[in-house]
Amino acid sequence: MKQFYLDYNATCPQLPQVSTAMQSVADDAFGNPSSLHWAGRNARRKLDDARETLAEYFKVESGSVVFTSGGTESNNMVIQGVMAQSDSGHIVLSAIEHPAIFQAVEQWCSRYSGWTFTMVKPDKGGCVQAEAMMNACQANTKLMCLMWANNETGVVQPVFEVNEACKAKGIPLLVDAVQALGKFEINLNDLDADFVSFSAHKIGGPRGVGALIMKRGARLESLMIGGGQERGRRSGTENVAGAAGFAAALGALDYSQAAQVRDMFEKKLVESIPSTVFFGQNQQRTPNTSMFCIPGLEGETLLMQMDLMGFAVASGSACSSGKREPSHVLLAMGAPDFQARSSLRISFGVDAEEPVCEVLVSALLKVKVRLKSMSGRG
Ligand SMILES: Cc1ncc(COP(=O)(O)O)c(C=O)c1O
Repeated sequence: MKQFYLDYNATCPQLPQVSTAMQSVADDAFGNPSSLHWAGRNARRKLDDARETLAEYFKVESGSVVFTSGGTESNNMVIQGVMAQSDSGHIVLSAIEHPAIFQAVEQWCSRYSGWTFTMVKPDKGGCVQAEAMMNACQANTKLMCLMWANNETGVVQPVFEVNEACKAKGIPLLVDAVQALGKFEINLNDLDADFVSFSAHKIGGPRGVGALIMKRGARLESLMIGGGQERGRRSGTENVAGAAGFAAALGALDYSQAAQVRDMFEKKLVESIPSTVFFGQNQQRTPNTSMFCIPGLEGETLLMQMDLMGFAVASGSACSSGKREPSHVLLAMGAPDFQARSSLRISFGVDAEEPVCEVLVSALLKVKVRLKSMSGRG
């Protein structure tokens, strides 16, 4: 059976040049980068090179780059690092953030009674309005969180506008740029936000590696205490091979053809199944992402049926304590519960070509007919 991987927003296959870069660290730079001897210096050189590559790519100073274990750690590092600075405060976050942000904020605020938060809903198209974010600020707001692009719908958020407004109020902004990286140009000199988080595996780098870019002067309490690596901001022996792999992946993906394929897919799908509802379709979106629901078909069942036919796709619903929960993103956008439970996400890779649209749509149609006839019998 032919297999199709259409879940690039979940993770991207590791690129060959990434494996080569990582192997060369294992072979020639195996030392501890904090060691003073030749082996340590070799490793330090590789780490410095990787840091320099990230800094050039993002247009920041190399001292701004903190290597982490991924997007989850970068996000948690900021939330907990800001909260550890005072006994009380308030956080504004959008209602469509990744769990690495919204669950971290919810849990830490429930642990520390002096801290509260306000979640701001997006409009029906999945875009959070800058004005709504700023209206949610209080006198004691100490952090704002807004992702650059949403992982489910791909909808791009007004991070520039929000950051300008935050700067005027002296509130630091955390931008989760995990899904934005590789999809369009990221110039952090232009954005100039206090904290921006990234993950390597979304762009063909290794899993378990990421970065937090901190603006000069931005302050955090450290989450990881120990040897004082990463200028005391993240202790622990650095993952040199991971950092080199991350650097090797930067700029390697070209998504310029993806929007054409995605739009073709959506056109063919609605021609075949006119009741399909798309989410965020008329918004500025990451070029590879399509989120939709086919009324009457439960997302998880659809996903499993597609899997049996060789298609790796994602559903918007999340698994929590063994129960299927509706997509919090779609609920926040005002979608009814049944839609939030039956959504499917297709995220194309850079090599997707138009013929895949045909096979994908005919597979979805086949599953729809099969499930309908099964439910008719039941
Ligand atoms: C928007 C967003 N933020 C954070 C993460 C977490 O990144 P990581 O898997 O590197 O921990 C993801 C991963 O899906 C994501 O999509």
